Amino acid sequence: MASTTAAVASDKKYELPDNAIVLPPTAQLQALLTLIRDENTHRGDFVFYSDRIIRLLVEEGKCLNHLPVVPKTVRTPVGLDFNGVGFEGRICGVSIMRAGESMEAGLRDCCRSVRIGKILIQRDEETCLPKLFYAKLPEDIAERFVLLLDPMLATGGSCIKAIEVLLSHGVKEEKILFLNLIASPLGTDTVCKRFPKLRMITAWVDEGLDSHSYIVPGLGDFGDRYFL
Ligand code: PRP
Ligand code: URA
Repeated sequence: MASTTAAVASDKKYELPDNAIVLPPTAQLQALLTLIRDENTHRGDFVFYSDRIIRLLVEEGKCLNHLPVVPKTVRTPVGLDFNGVGFEGRICGVSIMRAGESMEAGLRDCCRSVRIGKILIQRDEETCLPKLFYAKLPEDIAERFVLLLDPMLATGGSCIKAIEVLLSHGVKEEKILFLNLIASPLGTDTVCKRFPKLRMITAWVDEGLDSHSYIVPGLGDFGDRYFL
């Protein structure tokens, strides 16, 4: 099991809420997370290994397994029926810009021609409070399952604001799946308790937050490391 030695601002102990799912800590996942946490990892590798984790989240991370299916029978080329299942209902992705945009390609790789909405929320650098600038969402989003994308969950403020935008557009709380790479215990607890019908899937829950509300040990500013 990976461990950390960073100086950590004390964070109250939280139990993992029932609606939060954490990927199994396989050796592969831990190795990938170690690579992107390393301050010496340069941008090309950071993007490559982050994309690998995002792919695990979307594909293996049960993300798609959390969408409902209905019985579906197809006729195979040998003239027999196969009683299988098909996805029920349509989905869309919504990324919290900017860092959430890094997760769009992984979603597109797994969900053919998926529609993607955008919500631009930025944390104020002084107060760490989220500010909403812009939202552009599919017109029929209220009828869709929404995969909300943001790799970092710190205080939970940005995620909560994004969920409020979705709810104000008619999306049902139980139709939101929040996909995340690294979460703080506080952010996980705050988001999952405020929205108990939402489901959150994360690759890792870290130790806490520092005095600047950065996740520790974390990986620094995800958006800067992925895009700049
Ligand atoms: C980061 C991150 C989340 C938010 C998490 O975005 O991608 O959206 O901070 O922090 P919180 O849980 O305390 O709200 P940031 O506002 O730094 O913008 P960026 O995506 O442009 O880096
Ligand atoms: N946003 C980031 O990119 N990293 C953090 O640790 C917190 C917010």
